[in-house]
Amino acid sequence: MESKIEELKKIAEEKIKNIQNSQELQDLKVQLLGKKSEISNLLKGLGALSPEERPKVGALVNKARTEIEEKIEKAEKKIKEKMLEEKIQKETIDITLPGTKIQRGSKHPVNRVIEEIEDLFVSMGYDVISGPELETDEYCFERLNLPQGHPARDMQDSFYITNEYLLRTQTSAVQARAMVANTEKTPIRMICAGKTYRREDDATHSHQFGQVEGLVIDKKERNVSLADLKGTLEIFVKKLIGKNCELRFRPSYFPFTEPSYEVDVSCFKCGGKGCSLCKQTGWIEVLGAGIVHPNVLKMNGYDPEKFGGFAFGTGLERLAMFKYGIPDMRYLYTNDIRFLSQFDRKDEE
Ligand code: PHE
Repeated sequence: MESKIEELKKIAEEKIKNIQNSQELQDLKVQLLGKKSEISNLLKGLGALSPEERPKVGALVNKARTEIEEKIEKAEKKIKEKMLEEKIQKETIDITLPGTKIQRGSKHPVNRVIEEIEDLFVSMGYDVISGPELETDEYCFERLNLPQGHPARDMQDSFYITNEYLLRTQTSAVQARAMVANTEKTPIRMICAGKTYRREDDATHSHQFGQVEGLVIDKKERNVSLADLKGTLEIFVKKLIGKNCELRFRPSYFPFTEPSYEVDVSCFKCGGKGCSLCKQTGWIEVLGAGIVHPNVLKMNGYDPEKFGGFAFGTGLERLAMFKYGIPDMRYLYTNDIRFLSQFDRKDEE
């Protein structure tokens, strides 16, 4: 009997040693210790033994069983470790492989221009402010000296939402907002860039475009004059477009400024000699500007005898086009990556 148990143990050990994976081990467990295993059979057969032999053999069989169980447990642990090892091996990352390239976006040229303008004017003590794109007729026109039926309204064909509300046609609406909001009548030095809308669509106009507005108001005795306006715009244009730009102020008309000017820069392409960009004139129109109209001051809570200042406004797309030499405005709206991704490089030049 004893030798049979020994034999059984040996065979079991041998089998356990040859196990390769956990499935095989599970099967072997059933085979060695299950209900139909030899060990179970031996235990079942104990009843047939003599009372003297029974405890002896019983102890031996149980011992053998425990030993086999322990061996299986050890084997199980080993297999688990082996599997983990293999998994780790498989999952190691080869850092020498080339990575997946992440497509990096770049700032839109119009936003670059906005940031540059804001930085410049902040450095001159201006506040950056904003106003609503859905504007009231009152702020977009009335408070800017453009009452209902004023012929100058025709120059800005508008998207009206209701009789009262429209998509703002000009950032000048923010001039009125800045004045009305400034109940303390502290000096105003503000710059405001944003979207504007007009009902026009052709090669050089879009129904949506960007404008930037500047407004300076101070007490009369501070004498904010046309000379200040000229100096400010000169700094603005030279910084944004090029050091060698000359400025020209042409008398013009805007309902909210008096006197009003159209500001041209010398053509940066031909240097003023005349080319296709400047239509052979040597000059390119860039800004509208002027001294704030007394009516506008009055309508927005300021005594024109006591306060005065200047305002200017310009289109952002045109500035971006001049700055970067973009030949067609439509490039700015079509979101072509090949176009948009060029500007990181251009700004570094
Ligand atoms: N808002 C004017 C336009 O859209 C530009 C302008 C702004 C003119 C401020 C004078 C002063 O044409």
